[in-house]
Amino acid sequence: MHNNSSVGHATVIDGRAEAALLKGHVAHEVSRLCAQGITPSLAVVLVGEDPASHIYVRNKIRAVKAVGMHSISYRMPAHATQAELLALISSLNTDASVHGILVQLPLPAHMNRDVVTDAIAPAKDVDGFHIVNAGKLAVGREDGMIPCTAVGCRLLLRRVIPDMAGLHAVIIGCSNIVGRPTARLLLNEGCTVVMTHLQSRDVAAEARRADILIVAAGHAGLVRGEWIKPGAIVIDVGINRVEKQGHASIVGDVAFDEAARKAAAITPVPGGVGPMTIACLLWNTLCAAQGRGTGILPRI
Ligand code: GUN
Repeated sequence: MHNNSSVGHATVIDGRAEAALLKGHVAHEVSRLCAQGITPSLAVVLVGEDPASHIYVRNKIRAVKAVGMHSISYRMPAHATQAELLALISSLNTDASVHGILVQLPLPAHMNRDVVTDAIAPAKDVDGFHIVNAGKLAVGREDGMIPCTAVGCRLLLRRVIPDMAGLHAVIIGCSNIVGRPTARLLLNEGCTVVMTHLQSRDVAAEARRADILIVAAGHAGLVRGEWIKPGAIVIDVGINRVEKQGHASIVGDVAFDEAARKAAAITPVPGGVGPMTIACLLWNTLCAAQGRGTGILPRI
């Protein structure tokens, strides 16, 4: 392991360092492609004025440019019609100079997210949300585009525990963006996977059985120290903005200090999964430009 530090008993997994390694690899591959006359290119589409989405999109575009890729940004007003968005996606699908297409979510309420994501050509769907890509992953195939956060979580886990086969993994939160695809990837690693959701009876009891605990619930401090099995690996996907005594800060879904006293390793927020998500978007865009799936990551 590299650069990871210790808090209490737990190793703090350094997502920024891991992301920097992956970005370095991507930048190297991008320069090789550019030398062959192919500049990997990502189209980013933002509809409406959601402030958080504006920040996410700005960070994504910055990261794309930093590794030498081309980024094309499209803004549409909140009152744009779904037909207008579909027409834009259709023109990007047929544009050979565009390798990846990302439509930032959430979309305005009058648009149907599934219709929009399924309009993107699967080979250009760097989010991995298209039903063909989700379906491939659902049957254990990794030759499609795989959602960035799921790929990032697995990469962080592999760094601390290269062989996960047979371990008990519990995933709190079953979104299509994070929980479900991460469950598929951990199944592929040989884990026994349990997913919990809003209707689950006793999430804490499930968590206590986890050798690997992935938390993607979108609920600040949901997971307490007593939920953690001693020696577990904890991956906190939450990014929650909280105000405390007039100060805004970003916290995860896990009560970090408590959990770090029980876990063997834990990701911090910020500086854990977040940077990996962006690095994996770059990885997915590179793979799209190379015409291949995103499951096989380099050894870096
Ligand atoms: N909104 C929140 N997370 C994501 C993501 O991973 N991709 C897109 N396109 N929108 C998001």
